[in-house]
Amino acid sequence: MAEKNALPVNVGIIMDGNGRWAKKRLLPRSAGHDAGMKRIVKLVRHAREAGIKYLTLYALSTENLSRPQEELDGLFALFRKYFEVYAPKLLSENAAVRTIGDISALPQDVAEKIAQVCSRSPRDPDFTVVFAVNYGSRAEIVRAANFAAELGGKMTEEGFARLLYTSDIPDPDLIIRTGGEIRLSNFMLWQAAYAELYFTDVLFPDFTDKHFDRALKEFAGRTRRFGKV
Ligand code: IPE
Ligand code: IPE
Ligand code: MG
Repeated sequence: MAEKNALPVNVGIIMDGNGRWAKKRLLPRSAGHDAGMKRIVKLVRHAREAGIKYLTLYALSTENLSRPQEELDGLFALFRKYFEVYAPKLLSENAAVRTIGDISALPQDVAEKIAQVCSRSPRDPDFTVVFAVNYGSRAEIVRAANFAAELGGKMTEEGFARLLYTSDIPDPDLIIRTGGEIRLSNFMLWQAAYAELYFTDVLFPDFTDKHFDRALKEFAGRTRRFGKV
């Protein structure tokens, strides 16, 4: 039987629209990213209070690394700040912080900081924030396929899923994209197989806790059939 859902366990957010938010205000794109980070800090807290167990945030796609160096430097500075100031607070509150993607391509100090903070995550967290950083779903799938080839033999879906970055993270139940584009931009193509998709025109820095609640409410009203009648 089809089931109605209460709360998603894992919510993914494609946090898009920072640049346009800044442009509308005649500010540099970096100002949009600053505003976006302020939103992340609050939204993480809110999602946890709402009872979400995993919040997966698409912070930087592999393709984003080809943006102008000036913009990237601003983004890296924000990663430094987040992992120095905000992530440790989460750890002290029994939340885990993790990443998916290849952080080794980031400036070394940023990669080290991120790895160091994530490694201090509690073993049995009641909430996990997953940052997708230098993440690309196709690359993730090819990486898993290469592991599978090394292992040899036949693969099952479950076995293959264990070779992805998200091996021990449940698939997203709900994926929200802010900023008005109706696409996934290489985010969780495997994991999104049965995710409910929610698109909003609201630019990420304007995406308030109330907007998040609205997405949860819509999710609760949807019927997930998983291919059944
Ligand atoms: C999303 O906002 C944040 C990142 C990709 C890092 P954008 O920077 O893509 O904002 P728009 O789409 O140009 O408005
Ligand atoms: C997707 O946004 C990546 C992140 C939000 C981190 P983009 O702005 O990079 O996506 P496209 O280029 O519009 O598809
Ligand atoms: Mg964009």
